[in-house]
Amino acid sequence: MNKISVSSPSNIALIKYWGMSDAKRTLPANRSLSMTLSRCVSLYTLETLDDSSPDEIYWRAEDGTLEAADPIMRLGIEQHVRRLRQCSDFRQPLRIATTNTFPTSAGIASSASGYSALALAFAALFGQLSSPDQLSGLARLSGSGSAARSLLGGFVTWPGDADDPQSPARQLATAAHWPLHDIIVVVDGSAKTTSSRIGHLRAQSSPFYQRRQQLLVERLRHLQHAILTRDFSRFADIVECEAIELHLIAMSSVPPLFYWQPATLSVLYRVQQLRRNGLDVCTTFDAGPNAHVLCTPEHCPKVLAVLRELDGVQQIIPDQIGEGPQVLTQALF
Ligand code: PMV
Repeated sequence: MNKISVSSPSNIALIKYWGMSDAKRTLPANRSLSMTLSRCVSLYTLETLDDSSPDEIYWRAEDGTLEAADPIMRLGIEQHVRRLRQCSDFRQPLRIATTNTFPTSAGIASSASGYSALALAFAALFGQLSSPDQLSGLARLSGSGSAARSLLGGFVTWPGDADDPQSPARQLATAAHWPLHDIIVVVDGSAKTTSSRIGHLRAQSSPFYQRRQQLLVERLRHLQHAILTRDFSRFADIVECEAIELHLIAMSSVPPLFYWQPATLSVLYRVQQLRRNGLDVCTTFDAGPNAHVLCTPEHCPKVLAVLRELDGVQQIIPDQIGEGPQVLTQALF
């Protein structure tokens, strides 16, 4: 095989990975639990070139043309490919093309989908390194730990084993077990100015960080139980409390990281109101101002209608839980 195409989804953390125990190896300070998405995916095609060629890296535009990847994206891809090569025997030059099915610089994390797709395509192209342990390791070589979770569908914990921070991500439940929706509400479409990496490194400076580590063990256990029993009310309480705590840690880090905007809070308040009125809906956030509004399929149309009326909302991207990466039959070039 000399050409491969894959897609890999983004994911939204319900218990957040925030802080590292080993920054060099991208090992997390705590276990996280996420929901893999379905429509927000990164696509990659990799093709091997003659030994004398340099690597070629392209972005595939919406009209199907290949253009030079922007410098920041290019740098990230080059660095990830360099690291992937270092842990394999493969040095062959590559032609790489990528695109996303969701707005790329809209403040929605695309690193998890992009880097997991690149790791997966690299491993598949060279027919090696494809055990879950190896793939998880390859994905987080990118520096994006959450990329390890995107390799699996449904609800995913990472590390899979509580006693081993190096263990790969593990599926807790399939997408079919509980087909939740995630309505992504973009209130600020600009790319974030402070990377997650800086946030991870700064997290420990928050006076509340150690307390958070203590609370997380029970919180994760309760959330796992809520998911396995499809208990939305319990799920919502835990997910919102956790999302707010991520931002509490960020805001109280030294120097502080403040991501919220007025419309971020409008979404949170309105969703809480809807929940009090009996809808199965709750909010979570990434390290950014945009909201992920999670709900059951039956309540999704009503929630969507309400969110569309809110002031300060720039864009709404309806998504739902998904099954994980796929090998594609259609290439990007
Ligand atoms: O994987 P990173 O380094 O992009 O960090 C992800 C950080 C959060 O999105 C805030 C939480 C998470 O677990 O995805």
